[in-house]
Amino acid sequence: MTHVVVTGASSGIGAACARAMHRLGHKLSLGARRSDRLPAVVSDAFCHPLDVTSQPSIERFLAAAIASNGPIDILINNAGLARGVEKVAEATGEAWREMIETNVLGLLEVTRRVLPAMIERKHGHLVVIGSVAGRTTYPSGSVYCASKRALQPICEAIRMETLGSNVRVTSVDPGLVETEFSLVRFRGDQARAAKVYEHTRPLTADDVADCVVFAVTRPPHVNIDNIHVMPTDQAAPAMVHRGGR
Ligand SMILES: NC(=O)c1ccc[n+]([C@@H]2O[C@H](COP(=O)([O-])OP(=O)(O)OC[C@H]3O[C@@H](n4cnc5c(N)ncnc54)[C@H](OP(=O)(O)O)[C@@H]3O)[C@@H](O)[C@H]2O)c1
Repeated sequence: MTHVVVTGASSGIGAACARAMHRLGHKLSLGARRSDRLPAVVSDAFCHPLDVTSQPSIERFLAAAIASNGPIDILINNAGLARGVEKVAEATGEAWREMIETNVLGLLEVTRRVLPAMIERKHGHLVVIGSVAGRTTYPSGSVYCASKRALQPICEAIRMETLGSNVRVTSVDPGLVETEFSLVRFRGDQARAAKVYEHTRPLTADDVADCVVFAVTRPPHVNIDNIHVMPTDQAAPAMVHRGGR
């Protein structure tokens, strides 16, 4: 049975991916800091606390996941966040570090511990949840955009470094998705978060999970390098049609 690990499965896209992988009949290991939420995502998944910014936490999580479900076949690197909307000249640096440590270093620290066994077994699929923000910059999003753009060379290099080992690497870059993302970005300010999705039709977390399902269900000789998925009502990060839902 296929073992799928999902980081950041406690809400949004990660939770939707977990449910979609469960529907495919796969064994799941789910991690997030709010691990109390995980059993409600998929009741028979292996659930364990995970903070991707802490190396001991990553090691405990992966060891427990492998002990419970065996070698990892698919890693969905989803844990991530945007924090604040600071212009560079006005920033304190705190949110920069949080985003880089989570979105870039956290993803790398998880990946470097999972890849060797995939290479050894000549089997595995890394899925990376990037963003349209990694393709198109917007003001007050400098470091979030940079953290997501960093995932492109990381994915490309892993594809080159693992060539011949059957390891597949797919990045999925969504536009606006209605999740807890904006609530986190605006530090719990619900009214401000709601404005992001006002009078428009964002993607749902399930729409993104559909893209992940497509990539992981291709035959082994097919690698979907990247899926860039946008709402019909969004042409660029800061270009959203707000004509009503
Ligand atoms: N929503 C969008 O518009 C959008 C668009 C493009 C890309 N994305 C990307 O999609 C991914 C998922 O975001 P989402 O929209 O689903 O937002 P979300 O609902 O806020 O979910 C984010 C998930 O990441 C987890 N997470 C954050 N920091 C973590 C850490 N240090 N260790 C472990 N888990 C951590 C959170 O879990 P805990 O807080 O419980 O740890 C949560 O489960 C992110 O990488 C985001 O950048 C989102």
